[in-house]
Amino acid sequence: MNILGIDIGGSGIKGAPIDISTGRLVEPRLRLDTPIGARPDDVARAVNKLASHFQWDAPIGLTIPGRVNNGIAYTAANIDDAWIGTNAQQLFEDVAGCPSIVINDADAAGLAEMVFGAGRGCGGTVLVLTVGTGIGSSLFIEGKLVPNTELGHLRIKGRVAEERSSNRARKQKNLTWKAWAKRLQAYLDYLEFLLDPDLIILGGGVSRPKRTIRYMHRLSTKARLVPAQLQNEAGMIGAACAAHRLVNG
Ligand code: BGC
Repeated sequence: MNILGIDIGGSGIKGAPIDISTGRLVEPRLRLDTPIGARPDDVARAVNKLASHFQWDAPIGLTIPGRVNNGIAYTAANIDDAWIGTNAQQLFEDVAGCPSIVINDADAAGLAEMVFGAGRGCGGTVLVLTVGTGIGSSLFIEGKLVPNTELGHLRIKGRVAEERSSNRARKQKNLTWKAWAKRLQAYLDYLEFLLDPDLIILGGGVSRPKRTIRYMHRLSTKARLVPAQLQNEAGMIGAACAAHRLVNG
């Protein structure tokens, strides 16, 4: 069965129909620029464009970069604050005319890794981090997602972790990979102290192979530490997995 997965971020909105038995894209993805300001109505129009492009009339899974509970957004990172309190699920259902589910972007990426990627078949406590513009987190206990963890907002040395250790921070501060890895290590140490995970999966922009070779060897954790496998597509795939519930109950 195919489900349309849509990953909404501060700079781009990507969508593709996903075969949820394999996690594969069944058509090439379409990426639209996020409308300036990323206000709910403008983003909803872009979602409608994606649904029309794929001539979609079946369930849709969507992500947003913020906490989402029962379709309602409670925080908004890199998108307009007007999202806070918005029933995102209702908004997308209204514009696209399809049953929809909205989840946090990092939760979606984590789900995709657990079902089709680096976390496949892993029990125990698994922590997935998406290290990109911000730091998103998803936590799985015996394969079950604990939604909306927001561990990128922990404070390390008095500063919000994602402001210190995201890929954006690395670029903005012109950090060498070595200097950045040191910051990431401090963050991982703290996460291990708090959660004692069995597996940590590093995803997001820093998980591309040409990047992981620059820093993975500098990190040391008690947990097994591996790069994510699905990279850019994880959000769309995980969103589709979440929406599968709409069909199966
Ligand atoms: C947001 C998270 C999101 C992460 C990655 C953070 O700033 O608070 O909800 O998952 O960025 O986009």
